[in-house]
Amino acid sequence: MSKLTGVQPTKKYLMINGEKIETDQYASLSSPYSGEEIAQIAMANKEQTEKAIEAAYESRHLMAKMPAYKRAEILEKVVSLLTEKADEAAEIITSESSKPIMFSKAEVARTIETYKFSAEEAKRIHGETIPFDAASGGVGRIGYTLREPIGVIGAITPFNFPMNLVAHKVGPAIAAGNTIVLKPASQTPLSALFIAELFEEAGLPPGVLNVVTGPGSVVGEEIVRNDRVSMVTFTGSPEVGIGIRNRAGLKKTTLELGSNSALIIDKDTVIDEIIDRCIMGAFSNQGQVCISLQRIYAHEDVYEEFTEKFTQAAKQLKVGDPLEPDTYISSLISKGEADRVLGWIEETKSSSADIATGGCLRNGVLEPTIITNAEQDLKVSCQEAFAPIVVVNKFRSMEEAVQQVNNSRFGLQAGIYTNNVKHAMYASQELHVGGVIINDVPTYRVDQMPYGGVKESGTGREGIKYAVEEMTEMKLIVWNNN
Ligand code: SIN
Repeated sequence: MSKLTGVQPTKKYLMINGEKIETDQYASLSSPYSGEEIAQIAMANKEQTEKAIEAAYESRHLMAKMPAYKRAEILEKVVSLLTEKADEAAEIITSESSKPIMFSKAEVARTIETYKFSAEEAKRIHGETIPFDAASGGVGRIGYTLREPIGVIGAITPFNFPMNLVAHKVGPAIAAGNTIVLKPASQTPLSALFIAELFEEAGLPPGVLNVVTGPGSVVGEEIVRNDRVSMVTFTGSPEVGIGIRNRAGLKKTTLELGSNSALIIDKDTVIDEIIDRCIMGAFSNQGQVCISLQRIYAHEDVYEEFTEKFTQAAKQLKVGDPLEPDTYISSLISKGEADRVLGWIEETKSSSADIATGGCLRNGVLEPTIITNAEQDLKVSCQEAFAPIVVVNKFRSMEEAVQQVNNSRFGLQAGIYTNNVKHAMYASQELHVGGVIINDVPTYRVDQMPYGGVKESGTGREGIKYAVEEMTEMKLIVWNNN
């Protein structure tokens, strides 16, 4: 890997109550692509995690009383600081995750938007008036609801969008007047620590945003179990998410979990117009996206043309050094992940499926992989791959296609390309997912839209306005004028 310019191997501390806190143990953090050490990360213990929660708990009144315009000002300041430091931010993402730099730049641009939406949303949090006299017992009364901050929010974030998925939790939490204990993914803590420093520079009071790095079994466990935490917001695997839900007691939980997202390509589709979007959907960020395009169902009339053109396009993608501006695919987050996926590919080789392209490592990087005729029960079909792998199968009727898409433990987003309005309507009604994307891939997301899933894809919604709803409690006020 070309030398990282933005990051030196430095010691990184916990950020608790506005102070940098040392720990007894540090873990080495390396680039997944080059193996180069980039930082030493503090590993918090249970007591330090409790201290962070206490700091957030003690700051909750201060934050709840901070006026909306002030919360918005802090978020706006973060927007301008991050805009100034956008190149440095993108290099940090690439250094710790091996996300190709073009996608890291896109992630920083989205992060800026996410904080902008948060600043705007801070100023429009409101309740509604209730028509009390609609009930005979309500005559002479006036009532309305308020939205109050929930208190301390425990945020546990993943490695795949280490800056923007932190923003999806920290932005709305601050917009709504809450305090936060953030545990970033062990593989990508630098992006979170970088953002926490921007918040400090923007004037966020000490104790409002605390960043605690360390093992999930210690830090995550304390966040989930501690009674001072009122809500846990988590993005990650279904296994961990379900465990959090089971241990969180009465805390509110928002869980953004995985999927094996699918796309239907109808018979009247102009194939040349959709190839680039399918490439982006299946292979951007190495497929390490919860809504990565993993299953494609193409109508039998367009199946051959689509498969041929899609395969040719995948073969052109540049694989390698994530810091080179035209690299499209680089290393998965760890060697263990690459080994897991290679094992899944081995399973397909002993089935009737065909590998149209890819399936191997090139200089340690998994090539973009397209598999055809894959049975539903192969791991590459029915589990979440989180890798640059996509399966393409044929269908004959729209009913069959929708049934195949729904044949999944997951239900985050699904896409359909069609020019047939009846098919679009049918799919939007029958697909059992959190979002149906018509005439685009399921990977489509902008940051203000409601985002979340059904089935094992999770519970609750992100997208700033919707996250603010999750992060506030409704309070009813009733005036008796009788
Ligand atoms: C995710 O992987 O859950 C986030 C996808 C995105 O924000 O584009």
